[in-house]
Amino acid sequence: MITVQTPNFLLDGRKQHYINGRWQAPIKNEYITTYNPANGEALTQLARGSDADIDIAVQAARKAFEGDWRKYSPADRHALLMSVRQVIEQNLDELRLLETLDMGAPFARTERMRDHLLRMISFFATQTANCRGETIPNSLPGNFSTMTIRAPIGVVGGIIPWNAPIAGQWWVIGVVLATGCTAVLKPAEDASLSVLRTVELLTSAGVPDGVINAVTGLGNEAGAALAKHPHVNKIAFTGSPATGREIIRASAGSIKPVTLELGGKSPDIVFADADLDRAVPGVSMGVFNNSGQVCYAGTRVFVQSAIQKEFVARISEFCKTLKVGDPLDRSVQLGPLTSKRQLDRVLEYIEIGKSEGATLSAGGKRLGGDYSNGFYIEPTVFSDVNNNMRIAREEIFGPVMSIIPFDTAEEVVGLANDTNFGLGGAVWTRDVRTAMKLVHEIRAGQVWVNCYGMVDPSVGFGGYKESGFGWKGGTQHVDSFLYQKAVTINHD
Ligand code: NAI
Ligand code: MG
Repeated sequence: MITVQTPNFLLDGRKQHYINGRWQAPIKNEYITTYNPANGEALTQLARGSDADIDIAVQAARKAFEGDWRKYSPADRHALLMSVRQVIEQNLDELRLLETLDMGAPFARTERMRDHLLRMISFFATQTANCRGETIPNSLPGNFSTMTIRAPIGVVGGIIPWNAPIAGQWWVIGVVLATGCTAVLKPAEDASLSVLRTVELLTSAGVPDGVINAVTGLGNEAGAALAKHPHVNKIAFTGSPATGREIIRASAGSIKPVTLELGGKSPDIVFADADLDRAVPGVSMGVFNNSGQVCYAGTRVFVQSAIQKEFVARISEFCKTLKVGDPLDRSVQLGPLTSKRQLDRVLEYIEIGKSEGATLSAGGKRLGGDYSNGFYIEPTVFSDVNNNMRIAREEIFGPVMSIIPFDTAEEVVGLANDTNFGLGGAVWTRDVRTAMKLVHEIRAGQVWVNCYGMVDPSVGFGGYKESGFGWKGGTQHVDSFLYQKAVTINHD
């Protein structure tokens, strides 16, 4: 195991909430422990946020929203976002280290994410000029002109998941700064550090106090208090469908709009004519990236019967080439799962797969030896899976692939769409007719052809069915943080 010097950010031994541009102790003075999943050791203490802490943070965000922040022009917000981009870029290695220690992201993975993360901030900088309405010809009797104005929606509650907060938080922070909203973030209890450090850095980049605040703590305490707070105008949530349902219920009290991104069980479809030299690593990393803790992971792998045997053999071989281990080791591709809870969940699903009669073709075990205190699982492949098995229907969120055979394009469309989810989907083929048929018929927020998992912030992504609603990235994302008013002017 590689040892590193404790980052300065962790030297104080515990982290408070970040509200109104400074660290603030929790009202109840309670803390929770957060762990390093690479070795199971306690990393630091996080403030355990209560209703009272959320209320203070929401008041700070409300005050900032009503204050000088309103006077920032689109050009001012653009300049601010470019300054933020620079500060984040300068401090990215520290943020990456915190992310690795906190949630186990391999250092190599966050190195690859560097450009994506900075592009997200650049994209949101371009959107400051996009907060605009329209002039619309009307059919009113008389002499009227009409237009629409779009204004920032107000205080946003951003509930952030633990699987990649270093980047994922920007789907909230970026759009909030672009549109002139303010926010209270509630990072996940298992991975709050990259969010806390980012929010602190925003102050040094010139973001006014109170514009972006962070309250840590448990989902059913701080998270629930944020979701139901009457002075929060919108909730942006990413996480599980179960919590997504709670968010909808909590938002009903004050009728606040929500956007929900809730994961999936995405189909990745390989036809016999596919270029297997590309499909084998592409399909594998579509599942094993971030140890499978990715919302759009392509975990249901449909393989045409003619190449079934060859494909399973090649995927199993490929798994042996993947290095699982210490996420600080730059040659490691799969780090630990983020928490003991997630480890137990994934191990349970592996047992479920075996008992359902699927064939375990690769992996399936927790790492022992030097790694036995960490939460590591080998890349795992089940073949001979049936689409009705639980391992084909439920989101596992771990390095577990289910390979399901099919014969025809008609058949695989039916199987691919036979799911409660609709986040991603992919097709591997050399035949453009097959590709386009699947592009049109897969019911999901995004479909990839001969690749997997590319997301561009200017295009964005979103879900369908139980994968949620609302779009992240693109102009629709910006619009959903603005409210629209129609203006009618009588010229007589
Ligand atoms: P979760 O949905 O409970 O956690 C996500 C966030 O919601 C965390 O910040 C948590 O503190 C917060 N939260 C929890 N309960 C809340 C409540 N009642 N009100 C407001 N906020 C609340 O997910 P969990 O339990 O950590 O993971 C379970 C499964 O969820 C995973 O195995 C995975 O399948 C899925 N998941 C999907 C994600 C995605 O990217 N779509 C991200 C995280 C989890
Ligand atoms: Mg942790």
